[in-house]
Amino acid sequence: MIPESFVQEVLARVDIVDLIERHVPLKKGGANYSACCPFHNEKSPSFTVSPTKQFYHCFGCGAHGTAIGFLIEYAGVSFPDAIKELAQQVGLQVPEEERPDPARQAQSQSLLEITARAAKFYREQLKISPKAIDYLKSRGLTGEIAARYGIGYAPEGWQGLRSVFGEQYEQPALVEGGLVITNDTGRRYDRFRDRVMFPIHDQRGNIIGFGGRVLGQGEPKYLNSPETPLFEKGRELYGLHQARQSIRESNTVVVTEGYMDVVALAQFGFGAAVATLGTATTATHIQKLFRQAERVVFCFDGDKAGRKAARRALEASIEHLADDRAVRFLFLPAEHDPDSYIREEGLVAFQRALNEATPLTDFLLRELRGDLDLSTAEGRARLVFEAKDWVPRMSAPILRAQTVRSLADLAEMDVAEVERALGMEPGTKGRPAPRRLERQRVVTATRQLLRLLSARPELCLQVPDDIVLFLPDETEREVLQLLCERARSGAVISLTAMFESQSDAGLRNLIADLLTTADEEHVSEEDASEVLSDTLRALRLQAVKREIETLNKGGLNADEILKLKALFTQKKQLESGQKPPV
Ligand code: UTP
Ligand code: MN
Repeated sequence: MIPESFVQEVLARVDIVDLIERHVPLKKGGANYSACCPFHNEKSPSFTVSPTKQFYHCFGCGAHGTAIGFLIEYAGVSFPDAIKELAQQVGLQVPEEERPDPARQAQSQSLLEITARAAKFYREQLKISPKAIDYLKSRGLTGEIAARYGIGYAPEGWQGLRSVFGEQYEQPALVEGGLVITNDTGRRYDRFRDRVMFPIHDQRGNIIGFGGRVLGQGEPKYLNSPETPLFEKGRELYGLHQARQSIRESNTVVVTEGYMDVVALAQFGFGAAVATLGTATTATHIQKLFRQAERVVFCFDGDKAGRKAARRALEASIEHLADDRAVRFLFLPAEHDPDSYIREEGLVAFQRALNEATPLTDFLLRELRGDLDLSTAEGRARLVFEAKDWVPRMSAPILRAQTVRSLADLAEMDVAEVERALGMEPGTKGRPAPRRLERQRVVTATRQLLRLLSARPELCLQVPDDIVLFLPDETEREVLQLLCERARSGAVISLTAMFESQSDAGLRNLIADLLTTADEEHVSEEDASEVLSDTLRALRLQAVKREIETLNKGGLNADEILKLKALFTQKKQLESGQKPPV
């Protein structure tokens, strides 16, 4: 664990404008800088960077964060790596004793180096191996595309890598990195022999593993690096590094099953494809994909295995959907994989097929429906029964509502009946309108309070402890407490650092909102106290009104009548601007 104080120190020294400028050209406008957002596709700039708050925010897609968050999202690095990189830039040393595991870190450094050296060797070997070149040609690959993907060749012979590593061939790191295998008698030999080599890159472009294909027939067809400290199959996507630019431009990413699919699509002009690495699509993959693009299209082989893979991808996606994201499935004709399809039909046909791909909800309903006979009550009941495992787990509320509606149509039931059958909360249709308005006003008064306290932390000391009781929203309560604690301890923690120290998504969103809106409350120093007490009074008044409303609902006993009277008195006092009785 990296200590909190160190994170704050790094944030205090780093300049976010400097950092972002290195990746995205920024334009100065007023107090802030702006650019076209690097996290979504847009033509006019809605991405802003504030040098005073050391925070970025996109009004288009809502992306926001600190320098640390920017590196994590943009470069795809982990939290500790982001800290490390930023610390280096400002000349700070990540505290020794807190380092995760120095031995391990040194190890992955040298593993990267070893893997890179092996990759270079394989590339060189390809150039001098007519047999491997012929194979790639027979698969229709150009030299240009082979170079773009760093494709190589591991020669025949047991210890080809010895010519690269010499004495070092005996080092444990080569085994650790998955390049060399030790047999029972302790003899060592290369894992990859006489294979076409596809290097696997992480998002930053480091080579972290390989897939090696036999030339022609043979088992296994593909041999992959084992899981190593660098390489975790369930996280990585083949070709993502090369595809980033195309993905960003098209706001679409296509997920295939194979190395050759990615490479062939790229050769035929479709650059936004990646592949899972011989594993099923994981939730981590999905989250990574959604960070890159709004549209994800799974394009698996047309065979039975491909359909099964699609079902697994559906399973992995369902809890990570969002209403502003779209997942589709492209089912190719049975005899095709993406590689053979684009070769035979061409880019235009492939793009057309992508546009017509099956939306996730259609695929889901089709799967649920299976071969049920919906002309019978049994068939329709079974359909809803099957949906129980799926629909309530959908994370996008609007999409989920749409799916329930489609399901209701198919099952010939009411939406509310389906919701009940699925164990979901019934719809909010019948709720009285005034209540909602009331709630919204509460939110506004609380937000105003929080914004004010963010802009003028010294005011926190005038906030009475009991005010938290008047905030119905838990996240808002917590942030208020954080702000007050910060002020009481006299600490000089920026709101930006506070944002970074929270892991809860709700808290982070609220703090980010405050960071981007705090100075909308233009309150002068003289007026501040008065605005504060007005806001506090508004909050109390709302709480009193809520209580009155609740009491008014049922029949009242004597105690409750007394209480109601007291509440009315308080309400009157508050409305006339008096301080409430303590
Ligand atoms: P496929 O068998 O569909 O191969 O495996 P492919 O991608 O079409 O390759 P070509 O066209 O025959 O060369 C799809 C993916 O499954 C993994 C690989 O990642 C492969 O790209 N796989 C397949 C293995 O890891 N090992 C194998 O033996 C086979
Ligand atoms: Mn293939």
